[in-house]
Amino acid sequence: MAPGGKGCLTVEKLLIEGPSRLAGEITVHGAKNSVLPLLAASMLCSAGCVLHNCPVLSDVETAMRILRHLGCQVEREGSSVFVDPAGMDRDDIPDCLMREMRSSIVFLGAIISRAGSARLSFPGGCELGPRPIDLHLAALRRMGAVIREDHGCLDCSAPGGLRGARISLSFPSVGATENVMIAASRADGTTIISNAAREPEICDLADFLCQCGAKISGAGESTIVIEGVQSLGGCEHRVIPDRIAASTFLAASAITGSKISLAGVNSIHLNPVLSVFEEAGCHIKCQEDRLEIAPPPRLCSVKGIRTMPYPGFPTDSQAPVMAMESLADGTSVFVENIFESRYKHVGELLRLGANIKVEGRVAVVEGVRRLSGAPVEAPDLRGGAALVVAGLAAEGRTEISGLKHIDRGYERLEESLASLGASILRTSS
Ligand code: EPZ
Repeated sequence: MAPGGKGCLTVEKLLIEGPSRLAGEITVHGAKNSVLPLLAASMLCSAGCVLHNCPVLSDVETAMRILRHLGCQVEREGSSVFVDPAGMDRDDIPDCLMREMRSSIVFLGAIISRAGSARLSFPGGCELGPRPIDLHLAALRRMGAVIREDHGCLDCSAPGGLRGARISLSFPSVGATENVMIAASRADGTTIISNAAREPEICDLADFLCQCGAKISGAGESTIVIEGVQSLGGCEHRVIPDRIAASTFLAASAITGSKISLAGVNSIHLNPVLSVFEEAGCHIKCQEDRLEIAPPPRLCSVKGIRTMPYPGFPTDSQAPVMAMESLADGTSVFVENIFESRYKHVGELLRLGANIKVEGRVAVVEGVRRLSGAPVEAPDLRGGAALVVAGLAAEGRTEISGLKHIDRGYERLEESLASLGASILRTSS
């Protein structure tokens, strides 16, 4: 194929020359997993909303495209996104957008609440295994939605509108909790969610909805009460910092033995991971929205890292922290309790010289003395971040492909790491 010829395929890669030493401070971007439900919720507002601290990520762009497809006006100015939902005149999400981002299911409750109906395709499985939505559908049905599932599509309607209900989640699903909170905000009556997710993103969504006039109490606890209101106004809201991106930068610092500081973080949200970094021998100093990490010359192993719903250790931090522990002194054990197959990064870490064995939900990491650079491919978002973390410490050149995964959740990752002194650049061929 002639270079640049018709149909020429451009492949982007990250090239990392390791081992790197990092120094300095970076500001952590806003939380992807908060922006997405906030954009969905903005559909219910009778006036415009402004979201500040919105990271430039492909998942956020996809969510903005969904809103535009539905008829909303959405504009971005730097890290602020303005949504005017007044022009919304559709109730469907095209399959191509659903496939780009399985978390599009979080738009379902908002579309039914606003339009009285919704048509979207089943999110299907993804890199982490099947992504069932039974909890979302069961809850919305209890609120009066009639949902037909056929030929991979969801055809939903609530002609009489949604009504408050008692919802008991068999698992504290983040997305299902968000869908119910949004749908219940303007439902007729009161909704009580038992066994609700307690993640910081749930609290951020509740704060946003309450600023718009919703009546929500208990967010962050296991029982959330939402008293439906007739209408919601607009508001200006600042998105919370991305605790998973922050934990990824901490892992980069720890694996390279570099002292760095992070600005714009919420150290309370990071508590579940900070204890693991301290057990690995890192000294962490928290002040307000800044945090300093000073790692030991060689990390200690961490015996039991079990991913759990918040405030347990977050599943999204499992891969980057596993990469970090691949160079630790001793054996670390991970148990992935949230997703069925979230160890796809292990095969790629082995190519860099790690020594990891996976048995079902358990991964046993034998710390090695060194990693060596190699060409690797990101299997999913956080697995890709793990490869970047490992590549920073690996000796020689690491080439990482599959950047579409990484770009879903990290804003200009290579620029942030380069500003700390890493030898990392993005190439396209
Ligand atoms: C959110 O996904 C996050 N995504 C995920 O982050 C995160 O890993 C996950 O919460 C857990 O914290 C967004 O917020 C956009 P769940 P979500 O519903 O809502 C099962 C990242 O890397 N389940 O809490 O999809 C499900 O299969 C992403 O940023 C059902 O069985 O997670 C999983 O095993 C990855 N039925 C478990 O619950 C349902 O109806 C947790 O899922 C829903 C979920």
